[in-house]
Amino acid sequence: MTNETPQKLYYPSEEVVKNAAVSGMEAYRALCAEAAQDYEGFWGKRAKELIDWQTPFTQVLDESNAPFFKWFADGKLNVSYNCLDRQVNNGLGDKVALIFEGDKGDVSKVTYKDLLGRVSKFANALKSLGVKKGDRVVIYLPMSIEGVVAMQACARIGATHSIVFGGFSAQSLADRINDAGAVALITSDGQNRGGKALPLKSIADEALASGCPSIKNVLVVKRTGGETAMVAGRDIWADDLLATQSDVCEPEWVEAEHPLFLLYTSGSTGKPKGVQHSTGGYLLHAILTMKYTFDIKPDDVFWCTADIGWVTGHTYITYGPLACGATEIVFEGVPTYPDAGRFWKMIQDHKVNIFYTAPTAIRSLIKAADNTPAVHPKNYDLSSLRILGSVGEPINPAAWEWYYENVGGSRCPIVDTFWQTETGGHMITPLPGATPLVPGSCTLPFPGIQAAVVDETGTEVPWGQGGILVVQRPWPSMIRTIWGDPDRFVKSYYPADFQGKLYLAGDGAIRDKDTGYFTITGRIDDVLNVSGHRMGTMEIESALVAHEKVAEAAVVGRPDDLTGEAIVAFVVLKGARPTGDEAVKVIKELQNWVGQEIGPIAKPKDIRFGENLPKTRSGKIMRRLLRQLAKGEEITQDTSTLENPAILEQLK
Ligand code: WT7
Repeated sequence: MTNETPQKLYYPSEEVVKNAAVSGMEAYRALCAEAAQDYEGFWGKRAKELIDWQTPFTQVLDESNAPFFKWFADGKLNVSYNCLDRQVNNGLGDKVALIFEGDKGDVSKVTYKDLLGRVSKFANALKSLGVKKGDRVVIYLPMSIEGVVAMQACARIGATHSIVFGGFSAQSLADRINDAGAVALITSDGQNRGGKALPLKSIADEALASGCPSIKNVLVVKRTGGETAMVAGRDIWADDLLATQSDVCEPEWVEAEHPLFLLYTSGSTGKPKGVQHSTGGYLLHAILTMKYTFDIKPDDVFWCTADIGWVTGHTYITYGPLACGATEIVFEGVPTYPDAGRFWKMIQDHKVNIFYTAPTAIRSLIKAADNTPAVHPKNYDLSSLRILGSVGEPINPAAWEWYYENVGGSRCPIVDTFWQTETGGHMITPLPGATPLVPGSCTLPFPGIQAAVVDETGTEVPWGQGGILVVQRPWPSMIRTIWGDPDRFVKSYYPADFQGKLYLAGDGAIRDKDTGYFTITGRIDDVLNVSGHRMGTMEIESALVAHEKVAEAAVVGRPDDLTGEAIVAFVVLKGARPTGDEAVKVIKELQNWVGQEIGPIAKPKDIRFGENLPKTRSGKIMRRLLRQLAKGEEITQDTSTLENPAILEQLK
């Protein structure tokens, strides 16, 4: 990233500015000033306005046990009530909440009234199984109406849900169930993706067979049909149980700090961490970002293409849009089936106004449109679009410009939203009717968020100089702890290097020397971002060394045009170093192994074998060298501390 050429700014049209919730940069600055002057007042005012509380809170922020911050702690509320009942009570009962489009193109619509009934039935079904407030429920479901319903049902009865993405393996599912100590699992017979029916229940069975003693029941939603083995006394078809439930369920009023959900994500050790989110503070930021970042309006059709298995799907499918009474799309399929025009056709068919997707999807659709002109967005009527969003990884300027011109017709602002599983909602992002845009920059902090770029001592570095991204004040939707491991929470996010005062995001960043705009320069820890999916290098290494043939493994990332980063593994086998056909065979075997151990998203793209790994004399693997090798670069740096320089030749 250089700061030499002045950045070209893209300004929102007068029309967009005029109608926006935050209208113009003056309005943005006024909000920031309001928060700077009275931080608690800023958040407290909005929490009162935007949430229906059963018991109002009297204290906004409690810092007495920092960094275990509490927000609105003596207030009581229910998220499902705020998403559903309040819309129905406000006369929106007949408004469409969800437009579901299946993989094969089947469409069904659910009104707020219907959704409230379905969630209440599901909540009663969970209660009938003995699930109660504070219990953990793991959800292993594909993108579906039931996925949203199951999450909302947990919220309704105060159970803490933990979604496991449908692409994760039996082993990953079992690990998460056991770490959370979940009492119930909600899954489906299978899932439809790209014209194929894939199993889900059988993977869940495999997970449970490996030992998940806390699970008492498995609730199975029917989606693909066909044979499904059911374990008597444990497994129940959701349809059967729901048939006899009342569609009225009094919400369980919970304290604002009650854990709404856990969501496992990768860190720099082998074990994924259960990020714990709150109820009140989380909901506030979900709503506020829908209003400020997406400028959601009553008649909008909103579409976030993420899966409910990721935090983006939690905040911008299950909770944010519904808490705002919006109409949103829930899409089961993939962007390339039946062809790579699927997204554009769906925007046209459903007259989508706000579209939120990931750079990796955009890059693959650019490639597809180059190869097959018929799926180019120009063949579709995309005039309904007003705002575009990007999330999950840095968006390269070329993809940004293509998205802006070809999808947004050079008229729709792109909000490049930087945030994380841990932050609950947007942290650094343009506001569409205010912020002039620079391709590749997530621009400025959301009002009330105090982000900075610092050096190793926690001192802010001058604009134009790269450093470590931190957040200087706690915010309502932040991670509360790591489930079962509060020490790891403190060490990971409030490290002693910064006297425990700064939230460490784990990313590097640089601010433009003129505008102060933030550009994220990538992770500073051992975390990779592959197609917007977060993967720990240690997690993949642990999976590799669990294979009987592997003695040692080191995993690094390599820049990739399509997936952002690609996984490269350097492997030492217990036997001889394989070459030729034998190497090809073992590579396949190890790729499939990692796919089974973690999930297909973790499969290394490239595996190289050596008789050893490059190590210092003290035995430390020199990852910097491996990164260079992975990129195919000449090794230019000093290798004199290497114990075994000859190994570099083998690993090229
Ligand atoms: C990591 C968080 C945000 C929800 C989905 C991913 C990277 C995320 C951006 C962006 C540059 C981004 C960061 C971050 N990231 N959004 N707009 N620009 N980088 O959540 O799986 O917790 O991953 O994704 O590296 O730390 P996640």
